[in-house]
Amino acid sequence: MSLASVHLTGIGGYLPERILTNAELEQMVDTTEAWIIERTGIQQRHIIAADQMTSDMAVEAAKVALADAGISIDDIDALVVSTTTPDLIFPATATVVQAKLGGKDFPAWDIQAVCSGFVYGLAQVEGMMRAGMFKRVLLIGAEAMSRIVDWTDRGTCILFGDGAGAVVLEARESNVENGLIGSVLHADGAYRDLLKATHPHRPSSPDLHQQVNHESADFSLDSAGTAAVEMKGNEVFRVAVTKLGSVVNEILAKYEFSDSDIDWLVPHQANIRIIQATAKKLKMDIDRVALTVGSHGNTSSASVPLALNELYRSGRLEKGQLILLEAFAGGFAWGANLLRWSK
Ligand code: UT7
Repeated sequence: MSLASVHLTGIGGYLPERILTNAELEQMVDTTEAWIIERTGIQQRHIIAADQMTSDMAVEAAKVALADAGISIDDIDALVVSTTTPDLIFPATATVVQAKLGGKDFPAWDIQAVCSGFVYGLAQVEGMMRAGMFKRVLLIGAEAMSRIVDWTDRGTCILFGDGAGAVVLEARESNVENGLIGSVLHADGAYRDLLKATHPHRPSSPDLHQQVNHESADFSLDSAGTAAVEMKGNEVFRVAVTKLGSVVNEILAKYEFSDSDIDWLVPHQANIRIIQATAKKLKMDIDRVALTVGSHGNTSSASVPLALNELYRSGRLEKGQLILLEAFAGGFAWGANLLRWSK
């Protein structure tokens, strides 16, 4: 089998029960509901429960996607989890999810492209499926951003939320112009300090190794404090608008479409003003844009599949419609996918 077409046959999402409102944030940091809504469009976000981890949210989303595709975990032959907040440094969260779903033997791995992880994942998996490696793949974006946010930093803590989105992708031996059409990916590490999460014991930190080698070999990570997101928000904003504007043009040109061919824009949900700028660039009405930023906040790589899931569940997607997915992330890493809805 080669040059198969790759179709999205199942989709699911999961959001933890606990909702954190802007009013609650007013009690936590020096901010106002009005500022958050005006500058970001975010009204609330979901927060993972104390006894949950990223894999638990991924499993819930995956179960819905599998049921939607009408298949079981036994029908899957690869599982990929995009996450910035893995359960452990290793093994991959994908292997934890595989075990919790009762899957066996098939390959399972994580990818890390922060908020662009799902867009990167779609591109990676599509290529492998077209090459004939897999017939059915479960691709999940799952993030517990609340676990790595600095809850004293008003510039970042108001932005993020937790959740998971999952899709089932299926290769079919036909070349019909349907399903995933293709992707464009970019990264520029020169910008890596503008948006990052640091931890006192970074996995490859020379400080840690010196400590282990030359001092008293304190391997305890618990005493080290927690990871924290750091962002120069307005600089990220400026580059995000520019790069997203060019990547959507690039993918349309690459696959020979024009603005007016797109039926739906499913963007990464970082800030309503960034989304509006991309929609304007594409001359798209905002009611053709999947919007979840208001109710979910920024769920990093879960945001694109969660937004696609909400669009699907709203009953507005029709067979044959052209969908443009895009995301921008720390790194910076950004990209876009084109999908002809065939479900
Ligand atoms: O998902 C990956 C990609 N991430 C993004 O794309 C995020 C991109 N950045 C953004 O969305 C926006 O830059 C933010 C929402 C983070 C910030 O909005 P902004 O309009 O760029 O504000 P700013 O950073 O330029 O700050 C303007 C003012 C500052 O006060 P001064 O210096 O003018 O007195 C900030 O200290 O707003 C202040 N500020 C706040 N005020 C009330 C920053 N955060 C808050 C807050 N509440 N939560």
